Amino acid sequence: MKDLEKQLLELFHRDRLAGLATVTPDGRPWVRYVTLLAKTGFPLVFCTDVHSRKMAHIRANPEVHLTSGNLEPPDDSVYLQIQGRAEVSTDPSARSRYWKKEWTRYFKGPDDPNYVIVEVAPYRIELYGPHGFEPLVWTGS
Ligand SMILES: Cc1cc2nc3c(=O)[nH]c(=O)nc-3n(C[C@H](O)[C@H](O)[C@H](O)COP(=O)(O)O)c2cc1C
Repeated sequence: MKDLEKQLLELFHRDRLAGLATVTPDGRPWVRYVTLLAKTGFPLVFCTDVHSRKMAHIRANPEVHLTSGNLEPPDDSVYLQIQGRAEVSTDPSARSRYWKKEWTRYFKGPDDPNYVIVEVAPYRIELYGPHGFEPLVWTGS
């Protein structure tokens, strides 16, 4: 389990594009891309606009699913299926820690009240890869 966790955390050493599924008010799935920001552990983190549709979905139902893969070798056979619970970070320092200057296209700066950090605490991650068709499964609380 520890080796698998290490392997997973290595995959998050760089920003990763992921499909984020949330549940709509009428109980249907809705998926869009988000960028999981590089960091050293769980929870996984992305930033978004507080007024976005995904935020309304998460506020009503924090259950999310993420999938993330890669078309480029050498990791082209590696992909992840992630179940987790999302919540808005209340850590005041997180806003500036994750801020990227290119986001001025979307937000005035790290203190823009529309800019929020969302943390996804994973409870099940399936890692698919060159080891075979069956995933390696990590579970957390
Ligand atoms: C490559 C790529 C990365 C993206 N990363 C993010 C992101 O990190 N956060 C975000 O809110 N939207 C991101 N988007 C935009 C979303 O996919 C989506 O269009 C937008 O957030 C509105 O989604 P919503 O209406 O479901 O809330 C990204 C789009 C692309 C194509």
